[in-house]
Amino acid sequence: MKQIMASSSIFVVTLLAILVIFTGSCSAQLSKDYYSKSCPKVLSTVKSVVQSAVSKERRMGASLLRLHFHDCFVNGCDGSILLDDTSSFTGEKTAGPNAGSVRGYNVIDDIKSKVEQVCPGVVSCADIVAIAARDSVAILGGPQWDVKLGRRDSKTASLSAANNGQIPPPTSTLSNLINRFKAKGLTEKDMVALSGAHTIGQARCTTFRGRIYNENNIGSSFAETRQGNCPKTNGTGDNNLAPLDLQTPTSFDNYYFKNLVNKKGLLHSDQVLFNGGSSDSFVQKYSQDKDSFDSDFVDAMIKMGDIKPLTGSKGEIRKNCARVN
Ligand code: HEM
Ligand SMILES: *[C@@H]1O[C@H](CO)[C@@H](O)[C@H](O)[C@H]1NC(C)=O
Repeated sequence: MKQIMASSSIFVVTLLAILVIFTGSCSAQLSKDYYSKSCPKVLSTVKSVVQSAVSKERRMGASLLRLHFHDCFVNGCDGSILLDDTSSFTGEKTAGPNAGSVRGYNVIDDIKSKVEQVCPGVVSCADIVAIAARDSVAILGGPQWDVKLGRRDSKTASLSAANNGQIPPPTSTLSNLINRFKAKGLTEKDMVALSGAHTIGQARCTTFRGRIYNENNIGSSFAETRQGNCPKTNGTGDNNLAPLDLQTPTSFDNYYFKNLVNKKGLLHSDQVLFNGGSSDSFVQKYSQDKDSFDSDFVDAMIKMGDIKPLTGSKGEIRKNCARVN
């Protein structure tokens, strides 16, 4: 009798264990092996298109990284930023933070059409954006990591969601930045590390004019240099570009943080990270220790890529990234 009790309790425990493993594997989780059976060539296909786009224009690497950030911060990493306007909704492309500024849609479309050739209807646009951002960082000399996959694409997009401040503006205070990122489950450390993305890419005069003419925590020769290509009067030269990292805007390194320590941040929202507040210690550390920046940046990118993904039967796998099926 005792024996039967023992073996039946072993049976129950085994059953429970199987149940736990089974539900675990079916739960809504992203994983790095998501396409290993259904589309084993997805990673190499994405990488070769990103590689050739970045070889043609180094800045494109920065643009693809930013595209992932702006996708994830509005309704999660669901490819919603890629949707063109339709009769039933106005999408995110014309929103303030995106219009005339977000780039790389054509590269994503190019990747999608090549991926559709190797495995039609399998890989989401949201995942393509995440892989392209990861590859861009690596190609420009930054850290490498395994990107988690399994996101599905939204069936809608919202202009107002993209305009309501979830994406912080360049005029943000430090506490604004901390709160915007906290609202997405990201810590102050994550926020500072992710801001290190501004080690690559360009910004328009309209986003930094106020800083280079009116602020005091800016190196005077640096301000003068930037004023040379960004006229004081609103509306003149608004689209003139300047590098976010003055030394090495096409290399993913830690010069962004060295610049902040020297009062050479381009955006107001950059310099607030090193202006006597709580984030100074992170900036100081990253400016001296590239490895700690790389490792915190990777952790934070993985967390950002995990914001509210659509999984299971939610959303769809779009055939064309700019349109719902
Ligand atoms: C902390 C809050 C942030 C603010 C206020 C901010 C703001 C901006 C602004 C105003 C620009 C210039 C846009 C233009 O003039 O067209 C820019 C560019 C850029 N941002 Fe951010 N950003 C933030 C965080 C991030 C994050 C988290 C990432 C990615 C992980 C990122 C990646 C980039 C990149 C790579 C560029 C250059 C894009 C290009 O050259 O096409 N930014 N950002
Ligand atoms: C120029 O634009 C800034 C930012 O939008 C604004 O705060 C400022 O009042 C404007 N200046 C003039 C003279 O219109």
